Amino acid sequence: MIKHNISLKAFNTFGIDANAGAYCDVTTLEDLKTVLKEKQNRPFFVLSGGSNMLLTKDIDALVLHINLKGITVVKETKNSIIINAKAGENWHDFVLWCIKYNYGGVENLSLIPGNIGTAPIQNIGAYGVELKDVFESCEAIHIKNQSHKTFMYDDCKFGYRESVFKQDLKDQYIITSVNLRLTKNNHKLHLDYGAIKTELATLNIEKPTIKDISKAVIAIRQSKLPDPKDIGNSGSFFKNPVISAQQFKDLLSNFPEAPSYKISDTAIKVPAGWLIEKAGFKGKRFKDYGVHNKQALVLVNYGNAQGKDIFDLAKLIQKTVKRIFNITIDTEVNII
Ligand code: EPU
Repeated sequence: MIKHNISLKAFNTFGIDANAGAYCDVTTLEDLKTVLKEKQNRPFFVLSGGSNMLLTKDIDALVLHINLKGITVVKETKNSIIINAKAGENWHDFVLWCIKYNYGGVENLSLIPGNIGTAPIQNIGAYGVELKDVFESCEAIHIKNQSHKTFMYDDCKFGYRESVFKQDLKDQYIITSVNLRLTKNNHKLHLDYGAIKTELATLNIEKPTIKDISKAVIAIRQSKLPDPKDIGNSGSFFKNPVISAQQFKDLLSNFPEAPSYKISDTAIKVPAGWLIEKAGFKGKRFKDYGVHNKQALVLVNYGNAQGKDIFDLAKLIQKTVKRIFNITIDTEVNII
């Protein structure tokens, strides 16, 4: 059923009070196909967990809230299992479900806001693991002709916070469910990220289980990332820039202390959080919005900020970082 003039404040983790002229909560595949077919003469706006977007204006299009639910086992062998989760399942609840049944692979991705359906779109990642590492396939529906398509790993063209769904196929498909391949035993633990080791040591854990890793990740995230329930935000607002060896040399000549991760001999990743902090923005508050005081990559809404104000702040940060370091930082969040 289509409702009119709905506030989207509760549907985006930034907590921006934008208005949807028309809104439809979709709970079955059949309803989704029906509404796509019946309303195909008007533009759609696909809304999932609302955790990776900044609404800078009201939405004229028909907002489709993808609320498909369900988790099922597709296939199981002695050592591994393929789980199908519908697009509207909450990502972190799914991670906790996996940990309860001792299915390994997603524990490092604990507490990432958002839903299952959007996880492949930006290839969510944290603490040394990305969605692509457990991805088997996903099901999607074509917005224009309602045909079904299964996307296998190679079809998705995953990259760092990237996939085909953000590029060539942007706004063409709605992901309806995702199949993930997880381990049932001999879990491959990812402990390389420094903060995880430190956290496990603090907890006095020498032989961690996937549950311990999840707990450690939750503790780390809670210590530096704001909970959208308390302070509106969309996680990292920017991507960490990847720069050339020459650019990195130039950076080091002025800032020898700059942290970095080598990706290849010619590509170096620099934490955008460090650049933004060094540019003086960490913890800066402007009226009802600002830069988080524990993680400069995160822009926050303290209450009733407008999306446009936050976007202007993002542009100011980009300009300042470019001026000081001659490095371009791109947004990770979708600007609407
Ligand atoms: N740093 C600072 N100041 C800051 C923040 C970071 O100097 O305010 C520097 C520190 O040197 C730190 C380094 O940046 O050692 C890396 O920081 P952190 O480990 O917090 O990771 P990040 O690169 O800032 C990325 C992801 C996060 C993910 C963490 C952990 C991106 C854009 N962000 O952040 O993802 O949780 O690594 O894997 O890649 C998200 O995508 O929404 C997100 C939160």
